[in-house]
Amino acid sequence: ARNLRHRSLLKELDFTPAEFRQLLELSAQLKAARAAGTEQRRLSGKNIVLVFEKTSTRTRCAFETAAHQQGAQVTYLDPAASQIGHKESIKDTARVLGRFYDGIEYRGSSQSIVEELADYSGVPVWNGLTDEWHPTQSLADALTMWEHTDKPLHEISFAYLGDARNNVGNSLLVMGALLGMDVRMVGPASLRNGPEVVKEARRIAESTGARITLSEDVAEGVAGADFLYTDVWVSMGEPKEIWDERIALLKPYQVTMDVIEATGNPRVRFMHCLPAFHNDETTVGAQVLEHAGMKALEVTEEVFESSHSVVFDQAENRLHTIKAVLVATLGD
Ligand code: CP
Ligand code: NVA
Repeated sequence: ARNLRHRSLLKELDFTPAEFRQLLELSAQLKAARAAGTEQRRLSGKNIVLVFEKTSTRTRCAFETAAHQQGAQVTYLDPAASQIGHKESIKDTARVLGRFYDGIEYRGSSQSIVEELADYSGVPVWNGLTDEWHPTQSLADALTMWEHTDKPLHEISFAYLGDARNNVGNSLLVMGALLGMDVRMVGPASLRNGPEVVKEARRIAESTGARITLSEDVAEGVAGADFLYTDVWVSMGEPKEIWDERIALLKPYQVTMDVIEATGNPRVRFMHCLPAFHNDETTVGAQVLEHAGMKALEVTEEVFESSHSVVFDQAENRLHTIKAVLVATLGD
């Protein structure tokens, strides 16, 4: 196995297929050890800082729980609680945090900030979501896919429906390429992954055997898929004024029972990174849905609550995969 000690996880593209797979294998091992009650603490005496400039439930809780279960201590900094960016530069912040902590998690808007933290802190930096990438999510998604089929990773097919230009769309495309999967990005041409990302994914696919399809056609895109995946239509940090335009563009890509059936696969699984707008039980969801005259946005309540849905297994896997990232990059 390759030694990933001191490495940062900024985006999937920084990892080779073998390294990415190694993180997945370690995730499965750590998950099994936890279940068996044989987990070893490999991060005793370590201190990590979690910097969140955007809100989070899963990512923050996964980092905190994973760290505690492995014996590490954490500090959580919310947007209002630090000087970062407003009163102190990223470069200075990185050099300060690097003197206190063994590793830094960062969630915010620009990818250049996590890159800069990694360049100047001298410790591993983990991207907990930026506008461009969400690598701890795609690791959890790969583990979930692995667990929910009998197939080897390179025989798995998934279709991602919706906004492929967002963090999750980019991370899934590259994850699928690294693992040699059959990847279908299904959505309007204007919301496709950027050409640079597609080019990189196709370059990786040459060595892994991944198949990459970009399609505007739902029936064609989802046929035979093992997994259907969708994400919110408007991401954190995007202006609420774009909701109308996004709804108009993405309504045909809502995951409904008809889309489930169009796969022709009775065992197809539904995935979502969460949070999801599948009903009006949230304040934002209620407002947007009422305005749009819809009952759900990217996925119907029926699909979300169906036996196809593995979204909570997926959420749990954030813990095991983030733990693997911490252990691999910080463990002795
Ligand atoms: N999926 C995910 O990253 O969730 P949070 O925003 O709650 O961390
Ligand atoms: N694309 C979503 C993912 C949330 C986990 C967002 O950035 O808001």
